[in-house]
Amino acid sequence: DAAESQVERPSVVTIMGHVDHGKTTLLDSIRNTKVTEGEAGGITQHIGAYQVVENGKKITFLDTPGHAAFTTMRARGAKITDITILVVAADDGVMPQTVEAINHAKAAEVPIIVAVNKMDKEAANADRVMQELTEHGLVAEAWGGETIFVPLSAKTGEGIDNLLEMILLVGEVEEYKANPNRKAVGTVIEAQLDKGRGSVATLLVQNGTLKIGDPIVVGNTFGRVRAMVNDKGRRVKEAGPSTPVEITGLSDVPQAGDRFVVFEDEKTARHVGEARAQTALVAQRGEKSIVSLETLFD
Ligand code: GTP
Ligand code: NA
Ligand code: MG
Repeated sequence: DAAESQVERPSVVTIMGHVDHGKTTLLDSIRNTKVTEGEAGGITQHIGAYQVVENGKKITFLDTPGHAAFTTMRARGAKITDITILVVAADDGVMPQTVEAINHAKAAEVPIIVAVNKMDKEAANADRVMQELTEHGLVAEAWGGETIFVPLSAKTGEGIDNLLEMILLVGEVEEYKANPNRKAVGTVIEAQLDKGRGSVATLLVQNGTLKIGDPIVVGNTFGRVRAMVNDKGRRVKEAGPSTPVEITGLSDVPQAGDRFVVFEDEKTARHVGEARAQTALVAQRGEKSIVSLETLFD
């Protein structure tokens, strides 16, 4: 029965915040401190998302600018992130894009964890950040509110373990679940045309398990999953819920934010894919697409 086959899945996390507050440094720092030696290749591999293991549990980070992820989500109605990390530089405080990020996350009803970054700096003032965020409805637990604040330094790595612990905690409370025993559905993180490999797409599997050979419709294109590479640069045969994976085998290049759905057989996938490509052309002329992947998504 469907409810019984729902199992825990890793949280999917994006990072948002004002310019230069340390989003990229934090993403790099988490990856570099958590990637084990045997996975050294993972440091150079870039597929737009990565997973780390903290206390035996996986966490998936989307390595795309949080703003872009949210804009895409809003435009396509795709919910791809479970938790957002709001990075605020402790020496700079709340800035316009901090507020913008809060509004994005609130509109999408995505829980926020505040990372008070650059605590290694002399001018760092975590209390000021907490005070300023109170005015935007984010009240720290220490002050009687419900928002988790983690002081850290993306530069020195101090506090990053705490942040990961807090992500696991939110994941436990929210109980993110999926069914690995169904056909995969999910969303395109990024895609491009590669000279040698053709269409290359990084997908986030959101439910089910994606397998080599699966007939698949991705946005307005289709194909069969020819090869899969994980975030560590390794070839894999399958990818379960919350796993980012790079695939080849599509007839065309999809767009970030496009949904994907695995079908029973290639003929159906081709039929739906071609119909969608055709209706996409129709839509360009101002008419509505008739073949929606959304109805197949849940
Ligand atoms: P954009 O992508 O341009 O919006 O910036 P960002 O938020 O990704 O910030 P980025 O990681 O590029 O960091 C901006 C600057 O702050 C860089 O010079 C970093 O080295 C520095 N920085 C980031 N985190 C820390 C930190 O914890 N401590 C200190 N001292 N500097 C930091
Ligand atoms: Na920067
Ligand atoms: Mg950056």
